[in-house]
Amino acid sequence: MKKLQNIAVLAGDGIGPEVMAQAIKALKAIEEKYKHNFHFKEALMGGIAIDKTGEPLPAETLKIALESDAVLLGAIGTPKYADPTMKVRPEQGLLGLRKALGLFANIRPVKAYDKLIGLSPIKNVAGADFVIYRELTGGIYFGESGRNEDDTMGYDIMSYERHEVERIAHAAFKSAMNRRSELCLVDKANVLEVSRFWRETVDRIAKEYPSVNYTQLYIDNAAMQIILNPARFDVVLTANLFGDILSDEASVISGSLGLLPSSSIGEKHCLFEPVHGSYPEGAGKDIANPTAMILSAAMMLEHFDMVKEARDIYDAVDLCMEKSIMTEDLNPEVSYSCSQMGDVIESLILGEDIKVKSVKEGSYSII
Ligand code: IPM
Ligand code: MN
Repeated sequence: MKKLQNIAVLAGDGIGPEVMAQAIKALKAIEEKYKHNFHFKEALMGGIAIDKTGEPLPAETLKIALESDAVLLGAIGTPKYADPTMKVRPEQGLLGLRKALGLFANIRPVKAYDKLIGLSPIKNVAGADFVIYRELTGGIYFGESGRNEDDTMGYDIMSYERHEVERIAHAAFKSAMNRRSELCLVDKANVLEVSRFWRETVDRIAKEYPSVNYTQLYIDNAAMQIILNPARFDVVLTANLFGDILSDEASVISGSLGLLPSSSIGEKHCLFEPVHGSYPEGAGKDIANPTAMILSAAMMLEHFDMVKEARDIYDAVDLCMEKSIMTEDLNPEVSYSCSQMGDVIESLILGEDIKVKSVKEGSYSII
């Protein structure tokens, strides 16, 4: 595994810079504790990049990302560029970056924290702990699209090449081998030829992993099962658009979209970002939940085999959840600000005493 040193920091829009600052705090604490040497290089991305350069993914940003060992991304999107019919939009930057870095595997872990079980609007979340392997650089997101000449028809084509299915399938099966050895392929093979192609390809690859219990579900049924019985899933393997939809749906299991991290992995590059968006209404108020961003940084450490370092962050987050050190999306009564939660996690990593002022109560809690 190559060394983690140069980290591109694309904080982006809305709450992006605020949650990013907390992830950097955590990483600097790790750097200090384990005597690592991280170089953080900031670059523009998304709406802020359009404002400053006219482009959502400026060439300079792409260069920094390509030259880095890993990319950390906050969030993109602002109300100014929310109209999906606009010619230049922040999303194009993100999609362009994923494609340019070849990030074909998007890995989105979902888990129910014991302390938060009551917060989920779903009943049976206890024991839910699964990971979505979403194909990220192909399918309908990147297929041919357009309108016919007299503008009476619009289209987006969903197609996959065999090698695109194979590489994400191998990644998902390998993950299953390190987890509970269950893999569920989610598709729409009862209707779509492209799904039958996926199934045929994944069926063949499954034979190389005989110890993994391999099953299939149609996307409509899977969407229901995720709500009815989320604990039944271990690794979910699916195409780009299906994975996009399922991962937002799955986020309600843990109680807040603010808890879900992700990693996007390619052959040469890797990027780590929260599943949530830029939450423009919360920007500048120090109220955003930094957990997903901080956990994304932990996934980065894990990807570089810094297992203990990653564990420190996971443990700090677990302890925060257990002790109700949470932002207002999770605990409106006694809420901590985004930066306070970052401070607590930093202190926990460094083994310092924790003294945090609660925003609402004006009191201190000590753990
Ligand atoms: C995500 C987002 C993106 C996607 C958007 C912002 C382009 O929803 O990362 O899930 O659709 O992939
Ligand atoms: Mn999405």
